[in-house]
Amino acid sequence: MCGIVGYLGKSRAAPILLEGLRKLEYRGYDSAGIATIESTGDLRVERSVGKLRDFEATLPLDELDGLVGIGHTRWATHGKPDKANAHPHIDSSQSVAVVHNGIIENHRDLRRELTNLGHNFRSQTDTEVIAQLIEHYLHNDVPLHDAVRTCLNRLEGTYAVAVLSRHAPKEIIVGRHASPLVIGVGNEETLVASDVPAMLQHTKNFIVMQDGEMARLTNNHIDLITLEGEPILREAEEHPWDADMAEKGGFTHFMQKEIYEQPRAIADTIGERTTTLSSRFTLDELSEIDGKLSGINRAIILACGTSWHAGLVGKYYLEEIAGIPTEVDYGSEHQYRKALVDNNCLIIPISQSGETFDTLAAMRAAARGGGPVVAICNVLGSTMAREADAVVFTRAGLEIGVAATKTFSSVLAVLYLVATHLGALRTSISSEECSTLISNINKAPTLLEQALKQESTLESLADKFHNVLDFLYIGRGINYPIALEGALKLKEISYIHAEGYPAGEMKHGPIALITDEMPVIALAPQDDVYEKMLSNIEEAKTRDGLVIAIGFEGDSVLEGQADHFVPMPNCPRLLTPIVLSIPVQILAYHIAVQRGCDVDQPRNLAKTVTVE
Ligand code: G6P
Repeated sequence: MCGIVGYLGKSRAAPILLEGLRKLEYRGYDSAGIATIESTGDLRVERSVGKLRDFEATLPLDELDGLVGIGHTRWATHGKPDKANAHPHIDSSQSVAVVHNGIIENHRDLRRELTNLGHNFRSQTDTEVIAQLIEHYLHNDVPLHDAVRTCLNRLEGTYAVAVLSRHAPKEIIVGRHASPLVIGVGNEETLVASDVPAMLQHTKNFIVMQDGEMARLTNNHIDLITLEGEPILREAEEHPWDADMAEKGGFTHFMQKEIYEQPRAIADTIGERTTTLSSRFTLDELSEIDGKLSGINRAIILACGTSWHAGLVGKYYLEEIAGIPTEVDYGSEHQYRKALVDNNCLIIPISQSGETFDTLAAMRAAARGGGPVVAICNVLGSTMAREADAVVFTRAGLEIGVAATKTFSSVLAVLYLVATHLGALRTSISSEECSTLISNINKAPTLLEQALKQESTLESLADKFHNVLDFLYIGRGINYPIALEGALKLKEISYIHAEGYPAGEMKHGPIALITDEMPVIALAPQDDVYEKMLSNIEEAKTRDGLVIAIGFEGDSVLEGQADHFVPMPNCPRLLTPIVLSIPVQILAYHIAVQRGCDVDQPRNLAKTVTVE
């Protein structure tokens, strides 16, 4: 993980690097640092352990006048999160500074070799070998970019790097292999960062680097080359996101803002795709590969974390709407098992970022079977988007809170549309059914607006229960994945232990946990398994369980049975997972706030996991 940023231009680099790091902090916040080339020609490195605000508190910002610099926010992999291991890392002669995202797998061998050559290591990181190795190659008349290129060719593993040296004070050298890196092309200024939001204040024009590429950046020129030194021609492309998306807009936390953005996110995601509805619904993004899609006989969804939970809902959509048997696998598991994926299997990797290492690895492994790959992601130009045969983007916009919210519900909407496209293509649904499905999903934004109105009910429940030690979330059928997602939201931002369970499985174990001190969140909309849910709730109640039921408004039976009731708008069954996402997110949010947790940057987590 980690976030890296670089700037060259007419303005002082340090404040711009800090602003960029603020936008990248979702990638890790164990330590932060910057390096600049000062007007004196000196290389100056400042870094500290902890979050960016701790770094800023110690930074003598007014002293830094350099117009060129690089910065880093860290999620520790090699070397504990202390100051010595904070980036930028420098070489023995203190003339080269490096920031890095990724893992250098042959760092031990390189460290041994360089130590024998007299290099003096100061940290336990894998990154420091890059600085020392560049120093080793940077002798006589060798230009910085050649020394960096020779160095990069010796690295095994994954990296996005930015290199600064007082020997080439007006340039930054960058390289990428399997960790994201984007170059921002401004007016007499050039930027580079792990992700677009860090640069949006300065430009909307970007060149997305690809694996095996490096670049020499000056304030008005970009030389993009392969690691073999061959030039690459690639024009900058304009990005649709704007700088306002990276602000809180009056909300206390990004997570809260993003929860409230869901009606808009879903409306944008389904928007133009469903307005041209005829009797046969088509997703334009898939129509080019319809030939391949009509031949498939099963599907596999690959994802991690919250995206995996979305994938579980996708299984219901694909099986029920499109009649396609579907399996859902964790990215981290799929790549290491002998999965039977042939060319009749549709592969659907899901990733908000499009950069999650394990999901990419699983996607590549599955793609070797020859089946079509249809990715679902939120970030244009991401690795996943580039490598898939087709991509259906969510249009949720930038998500900064580490806990995914609006991107989760937007992925559900995309899965619904993909299933409807496949159902229409394979005629497993009639044109009337197709029209009904599309007209139903168009109701989702209004339904979500109504669901958000329950915030105060959920806030008072948070007030009551924020000190309990355990929560159980139960659901059945298409809402079982929402029980898993509700438990995950609570765990990741409030650090309360929570389990999600299919309600019918409670009697095979978890029911033993139930006491009046362990709230049970029961997801019980009036759907095909509603009566079963009522029985499961009763089983919990007869064991002194304390039940918070989330169901349809006006459901007096459920309200009477539960200790607390959260009414949600009545909606078609296939939309219930989208609607019920809202209360579980809001409940987790308010519990975390009341416990004083750092909601947007929970401990030990990062939003984009670009390491294995
Ligand atoms: C991390 C994040 C989660 C996210 C998961 C998958 O663990 O903290 O919120 O669900 O990665 O991310 P992706 O970008 O692939 O959806």
